[in-house]
Amino acid sequence: MSIRIIGTGSALPEKSVTNQELTKLVDTSDEWIRERTGIGSRHVSTGETLVSLTARACEKALENAGRQADEVELLLVATCSPERNIPCAACQVQSAIGAKQAAAFDLNAACAGFLFALHSAFAYVEAGIYSNALIAGGEVLSKIVDWTDRGTCILFGDGAGAVYVEKCDRGGVLGFVQHSDGTRGEVLKCDSRALKNPYIDLPMETEYVRMDGREVFAFAVRKVPESIREALEKTDIPVEEVDLFVLHQANVRIIEGIAKRLSVGLERFPVNLDRVGNMSSAAIPVLLDELNRQGRLKRGMKLVLSGFGAGLTYGACVLEW
Ligand code: UT7
Repeated sequence: MSIRIIGTGSALPEKSVTNQELTKLVDTSDEWIRERTGIGSRHVSTGETLVSLTARACEKALENAGRQADEVELLLVATCSPERNIPCAACQVQSAIGAKQAAAFDLNAACAGFLFALHSAFAYVEAGIYSNALIAGGEVLSKIVDWTDRGTCILFGDGAGAVYVEKCDRGGVLGFVQHSDGTRGEVLKCDSRALKNPYIDLPMETEYVRMDGREVFAFAVRKVPESIREALEKTDIPVEEVDLFVLHQANVRIIEGIAKRLSVGLERFPVNLDRVGNMSSAAIPVLLDELNRQGRLKRGMKLVLSGFGAGLTYGACVLEW
């Protein structure tokens, strides 16, 4: 038994910010950003919330699948930028879309969050607990990014994507791996609240995202190809037979490095980061939705999804569309 993606959806904030516009905020240039990252613009919230974007993406995924919200049994939202600690974003999305009978909760594995949520849904269905799930990745990173730090503010974007999955007997998710290395968590971090109560008042250590970009870059180029090979080995599908590699959209040079290590042509690595930047857990489902709506995903195609990011977390999923 497995799960198959039946519908996809996505939502982006209305405002798109070009690299040129960022030169008014920090000492950077369109050339530098394009050359080092491949990013040309990103969407930034001017009022859209994580919940409003994620709810919209979920509604579109259900519409695309031809299913109703009250049929959903499990609703997972992967995010590292929720509006609230409680209630969780998934419960707020549940209320917004009317997924009355769904069990809803959040999952944070940063940029690998959507992938880990997809794997969790697989496990629930495989165990016979649920027969369908709505899985979203959403971020409003613009509120946790330091807009004076040129090393990070040029990278990130806001948005949400979602997939609706149902249990299937053939095809769908064929195999996956997921890994975490908490010993390397310091290279990409952002605090929530500092410890403050009547007995202690500690300052906040890392109010905004802080990242050692070079370390994350090296980690991704080394570990992602390894995890893709590991996931493919579980399915006996050779790398040559994979039609598309839908990777986390962090930096086009990372994608080029991964393609090279896998000896796979870049044409099999779709990219949208030039228009949306790095949207962390939203990156993979938004790209999947774009490909789906462009008609580039045909039933029977073999896809590899792979995400990596803070934690450090990383993994890969092999599926038949
Ligand atoms: O989703 C997962 C999380 N994040 C990532 O995947 C990010 C992974 N890392 C990266 O994408 C890259 O490391 C960055 C794009 C963040 C940086 O690119 P880089 O080629 O690794 O640059 P660098 O950090 O080695 O910096 C090179 C130079 C430095 O100047 P000096 O010290 O050589 O004088 C930086 O200060 O570029 C400078 N720099 C910039 N210059 C213009 C850093 N950011 C900028 C900028 N504009 N925005």
